[in-house]
Amino acid sequence: MDIIAAVARGADAPFTVEAATLRPPGPGEVLVRVVAAGICHTDLSARRNFPADLPIVLGHEGAGVVEAVGDGVTAVATGDHVLVTYSSCGACRYCAAGHPGYCAEWVVRNGGRFGEQSPLRVGGEPVVGGFFGQSSFASHIVTGVRNLVRVGPDVNLTRTAAFGCGIQTGAGAVANVLRPPAGATVAIFGTGGVGMAALLAARALGAGTVVAVDIAPARLELARALGADVVVDGAEPDVAARIADATHGGVSHALDTTGLAPVIAQAIDALAPLGTLALVALGEPTLPIEVAKLIGQGKTLRGCLEGDGDPQHFLPVLLDWFRRGLFPMDRLIRTYPLGKINDAVADCASGAVVKPVLTFE
Ligand SMILES: NC(=O)c1ccc[n+]([C@@H]2O[C@H](COP(=O)([O-])OP(=O)(O)OC[C@H]3O[C@@H](n4cnc5c(N)ncnc54)[C@H](O)[C@@H]3O)[C@@H](O)[C@H]2O)c1
Ligand SMILES: [Zn+2]
Ligand SMILES: [Zn+2]
Repeated sequence: MDIIAAVARGADAPFTVEAATLRPPGPGEVLVRVVAAGICHTDLSARRNFPADLPIVLGHEGAGVVEAVGDGVTAVATGDHVLVTYSSCGACRYCAAGHPGYCAEWVVRNGGRFGEQSPLRVGGEPVVGGFFGQSSFASHIVTGVRNLVRVGPDVNLTRTAAFGCGIQTGAGAVANVLRPPAGATVAIFGTGGVGMAALLAARALGAGTVVAVDIAPARLELARALGADVVVDGAEPDVAARIADATHGGVSHALDTTGLAPVIAQAIDALAPLGTLALVALGEPTLPIEVAKLIGQGKTLRGCLEGDGDPQHFLPVLLDWFRRGLFPMDRLIRTYPLGKINDAVADCASGAVVKPVLTFE
């Protein structure tokens, strides 16, 4: 079928909105008309870091309406409203244990489909599609049934599109990995889409003192408005000491969303003994870590992909928080029609907007 897609053709070239063709859904696949698609920093890093994959249609926070299903699909039907998340096999031991983020087939299922495997053509030539099993910077996608979480027709798809990656990553890092008990102290380093979601989850779970650290004054202001008790300017000296002062000796739980080595070091220092720091941002390939600090104070450092939950269970939790007003997504998003994708990307890269969302209607 004929569709419209935003194609990335160069690491620094603007996206071009082009006519494309999409093959029909095969067995186990679903055709979704995209209503909205969030932009995640991972889209921008993929465009920059994997030039060999270009041209590609990126996008992995889709939301839309099912238009057709392939053979064997029973979990969703034509007309269903769906959020689109990452792909997983559902059969390996990590999927079976409820951790599809660490699926044994993660890379092959989410890294894009190439050549004849791609469901997308532009001018008759294949372009890389199936990014995170979706490539949702397009009016329509062919995706896998496990990518989809069905939602009620009343759910605002534009506001919830980013649940499929950025929001579940931050919220899940807190709810599924750090699991702060009520009254715990939590510090969030970097308050972009992922960090704000972490902050909102910490509040929803009844954390005690929540500290937000960023270098952008507008983000700190928004973090405070969304429930941070303490905001710390990361550009000032002695970040860890200031957090320790504000929390009577350090936090029990922390999350880094910056991927910057000096910030991760601050986050380790900001932990009280026995505290845990979760990492989600792939910034630094390697880190110098003072091992004695971890050992001497029993601190834990762990990584976490896509919030470490099963989207089939965790996205409904997020939707419940959203319905109850605990995730005021209208405070985080700004919408752009697909034709304005380059403005949206610029606002994402500059930090002007926490979560840009493309719309297709
Ligand atoms: N692990 C996963 O599954 C997963 C999923 C989605 C996104 N990510 C990654 O998570 C990261 C965060 O994503 P995002 O969309 O929130 O990005 P973002 O750029 O919107 O947020 C990062 C924030 O860090 C702040 N920052 C920069 N330098 C700082 C410093 N020195 N001290 C404190 N704060 C500082 C920025 O001002 C910004 O607000 C990205 O690297 C992204 O690729 C990982
Ligand atoms: Zn699997
Ligand atoms: Zn993402």
